[in-house]
Amino acid sequence: MSNADYSILNFVCLVTPAPWFLACLWSGQRVSWIPYFMKGCYMNPGEQIDGAASAIEAIRKELGKQLLILGHYYQRDEVLRHADVVGDSLELSRRAAESSAERIVFCGVHFMAESADILTGDNQTVYMPDVNAGCPMADMAPLRQVEKAWADLQARGGGWLPVVYVNSRASVKAFCGMHGGSTCTSSNAAKVFQWVFAQDKRVLFIPDEHLGTNTAHDLGLPDDAVAVYDPDSPGRSAPTEPGSEQGGLTADAIARTRVLVWPGYCHVHMFRIVDIEAARNQYPGAKVIVHPETPKAVTRLADAHGSTSQIIRYVDSQPEGSTIVVGTELHLVERMARQHQGRRVIVPLRPSVCRNMALTNEAKLLLLLEGWLAENEVRVAPELKHPARQALERMLAV
Ligand code: 13P
Ligand code: SF4
Repeated sequence: MSNADYSILNFVCLVTPAPWFLACLWSGQRVSWIPYFMKGCYMNPGEQIDGAASAIEAIRKELGKQLLILGHYYQRDEVLRHADVVGDSLELSRRAAESSAERIVFCGVHFMAESADILTGDNQTVYMPDVNAGCPMADMAPLRQVEKAWADLQARGGGWLPVVYVNSRASVKAFCGMHGGSTCTSSNAAKVFQWVFAQDKRVLFIPDEHLGTNTAHDLGLPDDAVAVYDPDSPGRSAPTEPGSEQGGLTADAIARTRVLVWPGYCHVHMFRIVDIEAARNQYPGAKVIVHPETPKAVTRLADAHGSTSQIIRYVDSQPEGSTIVVGTELHLVERMARQHQGRRVIVPLRPSVCRNMALTNEAKLLLLLEGWLAENEVRVAPELKHPARQALERMLAV
């Protein structure tokens, strides 16, 4: 079926579940616990090309070490089976930086490919099978707003260093590098925060409120040492506390804050307290682990939290026969469920798909490897590369 066929099917599914059910049977897809309205989009495999897998393998063999394919854990299995490296954001950045391959294909989202371009040389080119695979959270901190917030903080006493989650635009990473800061991923956020504190500075964390808040909590900071800097205040956001100034914060709040977080978030990880309660009722004795992009109130109710690779290691470390409820992107959870089948039961906290990650599929990977079109290239502006690289290299050094 083509994408257009699936779009029609998805529309029909929203109207009534019966055609959806029949359509799934007709197209040979497994009917499971995924809500029917999500199933249509999640299972949409995109265009299929007969013989794509063997054609990709032939090109990989022909290009040998000239080609490096990187794949994030949230990618489809049909893509990951062709990757030289499968990993989390940190591992993939490291492998891009170490590589001498002339062509690097990033199967992930745009900010990841940008980081690879920043960390590689001028003789290397980074490509994406679908350059439209963005990350909404990365777009929640436009450079102009970040610069305005920074100027405000400097005017109100200073003492800050920017820490920028890699899920951000290259321009914001460059800003971070220019102001002495470092990027981080969810694997090393705590280490980067400690690097800031060791310089007797405070953290301005952009753009994920929840990773910033969870990390501060992990490091033992009291709740009142963490505040949200609202770039829309005063102005578009709701009225704030009397006496509050730009960012929605009073002078007192700024004075006691050691970690200031930006109000960005990932919709894929917006798990709720009721999700944890439901999981605990349905699977008594199960362990619950979530990604730290999950809000703090929910993360605190889980048994553990960690980046994608930390989640994988946690699941591997659980005794055979145990049940583990996992709050992260569904492609990874389903893969672990298959890999542990018969030994451990792995279930999603709530089925949640990153549609941007799912934009990449095997057919698009093949089209890229056959065509090497300029429209698939990811190129960061030369003037941003050096400062953004400084921010990424500071992270890789901690
Ligand atoms: P990891 O760094 O844990 O791989 O996460 C990347 C991401 O985008 C999570 O939503
Ligand atoms: Fe961005 Fe969330 Fe997708 Fe990760 S899961 S790439 S943070 S939208």
